[in-house]
Amino acid sequence: MQLLHTVADLRAALKGESETAFVPTMGNLHTGHIALVQQARRQGRPVVASLFVNPLQFGAGEDFERYPRTLVADCAQLEPAGCDLVFAPDVREMYPEPQTFTVIPPLADELCGAHRPGHFAGVATVVLKLFNMVQPRYAVFGKKDYQQLFLLKGLVRQFNLPITVLEGETVRAEDGLALSSRNGFLSPEERAEAPRLYRLLKQICARLGAGETDFAALEAVAAQELAHHGWEVDYVSIRSRRTLLAPAAGERDWVALAAARLGRTRLIDNLEAGAASVCE
Ligand code: PAJ
Repeated sequence: MQLLHTVADLRAALKGESETAFVPTMGNLHTGHIALVQQARRQGRPVVASLFVNPLQFGAGEDFERYPRTLVADCAQLEPAGCDLVFAPDVREMYPEPQTFTVIPPLADELCGAHRPGHFAGVATVVLKLFNMVQPRYAVFGKKDYQQLFLLKGLVRQFNLPITVLEGETVRAEDGLALSSRNGFLSPEERAEAPRLYRLLKQICARLGAGETDFAALEAVAAQELAHHGWEVDYVSIRSRRTLLAPAAGERDWVALAAARLGRTRLIDNLEAGAASVCE
């Protein structure tokens, strides 16, 4: 496995390699990231992973500085998973100029975007740059970051990028908590409380499956339950899987999304729901 830090070295290494499968990450890898690498591997192409903590997608006062940087441990996980090339640029390599173009749709200001202004502009910018650097045939993103995945599929479509986006299922701890680099910030008490987020999403899913249609009431009950147990809730929202907007009448392919803070740690999760959903 090669470890490269500059765009020039990356380009040289990928010369003639037009059909790679790419997994962008911010590092501090866990089993969820590795599952995406394994999914990339299954395309039968060379696998490229990137490790880059992108300052553009962190707001003032967020956790950019304390976000864990664990290059050596990350490489030790990537190699046995079948990764061929790791691209780990520094901030100057990624952003040699102080300003960048960003083009984002209104959905980028909803849900997580409403609570993290500029976040998705930062994500879209870095992913578009990474796509241009790596020029992959496939790119893999996790459903854990459902709105991010949705927006990036739009980016690929709308800019006619010759990339197929593959979706990775959310990998969870045994108690249901979605794996996240931020889980390491939780105190033991917070870690014990954290699975409530997923439990409540499963409840919403089950109630939707049973025919309940009062979305606002379902959202409010879950938000109150979280607040009651010490969470600061950003949102609990039932959306259309097709548009990620409020579901249209008669639509039955939903996704329940939530973001809430336990102490200083912001956790997000989501669960697809509908007539045929198993709510897991
Ligand atoms: P990061 O949070 O490191 O996540 C990298 C990829 O791993 C994303 O596609 C994310 O959805 C996926 N992922 C995270 N936790 C997961 C889990 N428990 N199960 C399955 N997949 C999971 O998302 C980012 O980085 C950045 O925004 C990035 C796209 C790299 C742009 O900077």
